[in-house]
Amino acid sequence: MEIEPIGIIHTPFSSKEECPIQPLYSSDSPGRVEIFVNYEAGLKDIESFFHLYLIYQFDRAGLVELVRSTFLDDEPHGIYASRHPCRPNSIGLSIVKLIRRENNILIVEGVDMLDNTPLLDIKPYIPKFDAIVSASEGWTAGKQWRPKPEGRE
Ligand SMILES: C[S@@+](CC[C@H](N)C(=O)[O-])C[C@H]1O[C@@H](n2cnc3c(N)ncnc32)[C@H](O)[C@@H]1O
Repeated sequence: MEIEPIGIIHTPFSSKEECPIQPLYSSDSPGRVEIFVNYEAGLKDIESFFHLYLIYQFDRAGLVELVRSTFLDDEPHGIYASRHPCRPNSIGLSIVKLIRRENNILIVEGVDMLDNTPLLDIKPYIPKFDAIVSASEGWTAGKQWRPKPEGRE
């Protein structure tokens, strides 16, 4: 399997400590999604959507642990029952708000990734396909984001 980045996500966050854990907690955070020019044609009609899925690589993630505590609590959870960045294949997924397109650059809000994160794919968020009103919050129900202890992955 070969996967190559299609662009780079530029954000205000240079360290994990200052980086929000989900777009929910960073809805105003500005980002610039730079698409490499050879993929620019694939952006046609993207302006018709308000929100986009960004699929990217956690390129600075630490060691993988299949069961571990998370940013929301100290209880161990399976990596596939969490959004923790230290995971096999290092894939991140965030829904951001599309503000506008400037040629091969997408101006977005709600970024929760480190500056210069490699972008792997973009898909439009389409409510009639994606919104599930009866979805469960699982073990995250009632949990709040806490400040990250220094040095914690
Ligand atoms: C909990 S993850 C959630 C990311 C995404 N919304 C998801 O659900 O896949 C967000 C955290 O990942 C870490 N992170 C963000 N970008 C990263 C990168 N490029 N490499 C390693 N870790 C990163 C930061 O600590 C950030 O607070």
